[in-house]
Amino acid sequence: MSDEQSTPTTWGSEAKGLANRFALGSGVAVTFLLFGLIVVPALLRERRPLPRPPSDQPAAASVGWLDQAETPASKGRDLPPVDPATVMTPNPKLLARGEVLFKQNCTSCHGESGQGNGPAAGTLNPRPRNFTQPADWKRGFHVADIFTTISTGVKGTGMAAFDFIMPADRMALVHYVRSLGGFDHGAEDPKALQALADQFRSKGFHIPNRIPVSLAIKKMVTEQAMVPPLQLRPAEDKSASAELLRFAIVDPFRAARTVAATTNRGDLSTVARAWAAGAPDNGFAPAAAGLNAAEWSEIVRALVGRREEARQP
Ligand code: HEC
Repeated sequence: MSDEQSTPTTWGSEAKGLANRFALGSGVAVTFLLFGLIVVPALLRERRPLPRPPSDQPAAASVGWLDQAETPASKGRDLPPVDPATVMTPNPKLLARGEVLFKQNCTSCHGESGQGNGPAAGTLNPRPRNFTQPADWKRGFHVADIFTTISTGVKGTGMAAFDFIMPADRMALVHYVRSLGGFDHGAEDPKALQALADQFRSKGFHIPNRIPVSLAIKKMVTEQAMVPPLQLRPAEDKSASAELLRFAIVDPFRAARTVAATTNRGDLSTVARAWAAGAPDNGFAPAAAGLNAAEWSEIVRALVGRREEARQP
């Protein structure tokens, strides 16, 4: 038997109404509380920008089965052999890997679809190769040719050696570059293929002394704690020097550390070469390698300060 039935008075029904309202009210309160505790934080979490890889992490290290950046500190050593069957011919995994690496390292010059028309291409002479057609290749578009080009670069051009990319990853790039050209790449030279396969099979690849990138960065950070980021001029500033710096620097924090770590500042072109070679891990854009000597001098002067300017004749 319930209370209401035993107290059929006005007071009783008023109490019942109050109780109902109280139940309703507290129900609403609980709903709001839950909303506040669960839904709002979830929404806030949702609204937060997607987590980006920490900027200390080199671009090339964000994916992959061979992470060249985070290998433990090591003396120069031979790499373990790679089964040529996994790298000599294209497969979906290699091509997908190649595409990622291509976007990170090559499109600034060779363009999204490999037509040699990336944003930096206009500044380069000779122009970056157009991978979609068979004309003008200097070393060639066979597997071993492209592997050599990526490994050693083309001297005296914007095409740098990408020897920091692990050999198996370079093969992923080789196949991806070839996949961009719909033309007939012709028969491979069996001897060249064999030599390359042998190199993968044996301990043919050597990597130099190194410490992991994260450790190197930690060392740099502690050695020069508090290096403030470079102040790039806002996009509205269309002056040539402001645009040049915005073009050449992809990460003002890392670039600031690079500049601070540059102790030998005597010769502008040596400094420029060192900075260009360290891109993009050092905060400079890979495409900056294509800038000419005058542009680089301007960048170096702007970043290392007036002291150098005074030293110039
Ligand atoms: C800073 C600009 C730049 C970047 C970045 C760059 N290249 Fe190049 N690349 C060039 C230029 C310039 C040439 C043309 C060199 C020549 O004509 O001798 C070239 C040529 C080539 C060639 C053709 C060589 C031949 O036989 O003619 C290949 C293959 C190539 N690049 C692959 C790559 C790959 C793969 C990447 C990324 C890992 C890359 N490049 C990144 C500028 C660049």
